[in-house]
Amino acid sequence: MNTSIIRGRTLTFVRKPSSINDVDSYKYTEDGAILIENGIIAKLGCYNDLKRDLSKNITVYDHRPNLILPGFIDTHIHFPQMQIIGSYASNLLEWLNTYTFIEEQKYKNPSHSNLMAKQFFNTLINHGTTTAAVYCTVHPESVNSFFEESHRRNMLMIGGKVMMNQNAPKELLDTVKSGYDDSKKLIQKWHGVGRQLYAISPRFAITSTPEQLETCDTLIKENSDCYLQTHLSENKDELKLAKKLHPNCPDYTGIYEKYCLLGDKSLLGHCIHLSGREVKIINESRSVAIFCPTSNLFLGSGLFSLRGLSKQKKPMRIATATDIGGGTSFSMLKTMDEAYKVLQLQGQRLFPIESFYQITLGNAGALSLEKKIGTLDIKSDADIIVLDSRATLAMKTRMETVKNLNEELFVLQTMGDDRSIPQVYIKGKPSKNP
Ligand code: GUN
Ligand code: ZN
Repeated sequence: MNTSIIRGRTLTFVRKPSSINDVDSYKYTEDGAILIENGIIAKLGCYNDLKRDLSKNITVYDHRPNLILPGFIDTHIHFPQMQIIGSYASNLLEWLNTYTFIEEQKYKNPSHSNLMAKQFFNTLINHGTTTAAVYCTVHPESVNSFFEESHRRNMLMIGGKVMMNQNAPKELLDTVKSGYDDSKKLIQKWHGVGRQLYAISPRFAITSTPEQLETCDTLIKENSDCYLQTHLSENKDELKLAKKLHPNCPDYTGIYEKYCLLGDKSLLGHCIHLSGREVKIINESRSVAIFCPTSNLFLGSGLFSLRGLSKQKKPMRIATATDIGGGTSFSMLKTMDEAYKVLQLQGQRLFPIESFYQITLGNAGALSLEKKIGTLDIKSDADIIVLDSRATLAMKTRMETVKNLNEELFVLQTMGDDRSIPQVYIKGKPSKNP
């Protein structure tokens, strides 16, 4: 048996915090320890309690005085957009046509996409992200590169081939038949292999014909445990064009509703400019609305209204994400920093424990994976990160005046980035790149 212990200040959430003072929403242990057996968390507790029944030759990774949390989860990111982050454009559609649809053509070439897959996972790990829901390109080659690399590293990843058969350069288009056939083959090849999970990925209503959206419905019906990921209501011009292309639908969400693409495995990126009807059907279908703050700000798309969406009778399912390469940082800390500011502008508050809940257990719940990841509970996968609140001189100086856990988390969120993540464990294995 492969056994080890991670020692440090452990923090894990048990549910969504209801206020900044909701101490029952998390478990925090000052001299905490996690016992890992074959990549699974076997015990969580005080170091002194755990060490009693340990044999002497067990490996102890001692991270005191750093915090130990479950790995971060990014629920919407584009693997082929690493090399276009920070591309200058006035809005989403210009950015897509000028940079994105050119860049993604490179991923037909397996040697390029293999190389980028390595960079992608190194970068995710450096930033403390251990699971993500990922768009590849239209090319099956890009999906194979993505899953091969993720599987080799034993990471829990969700990914899929983008389906798009109109309104993009011809090099980037599939057809109704090839989009369906390729997706089906990729699902058979990768879904459930090791820790890999598949997301059926129509890019958005603008790049798929009604016939292609129908095949997505067929794919979902044939593979009900796969995810569905797409973009929804990000930019006002996009919204107008989507409605023009689908004139018989009442609104943008109505397009996905018509083709039965809403449901509890549906991940809807952006959800900024929604009507009351749209929010209601998203909520009733238990689809997930994904807040991508750095991308929404960078592309000038708009302000996601977290509290506005939360006014439903049943709590709305919400997640957060980087949306690289519209997004500008791989860091889920930076993502929550910008989320905080977006909400500040709207008079909405986001408290620090809520942010850290969201990027761990909250995002795991949005992916229906809360029993496996996003937590340090026993029997969950040992995807664990170390957080150093004093990683830079500026942070160290700031930390001298910090008095409690909430304040420390807020410093990490506001000032932290990949430098604040000294180590990352994937299924218990130290995996941070040098
Ligand atoms: N809408 C359709 N495709 C994309 C994409 O690649 N990025 C973003 N931010 N929005 C999209
Ligand atoms: Zn996106």
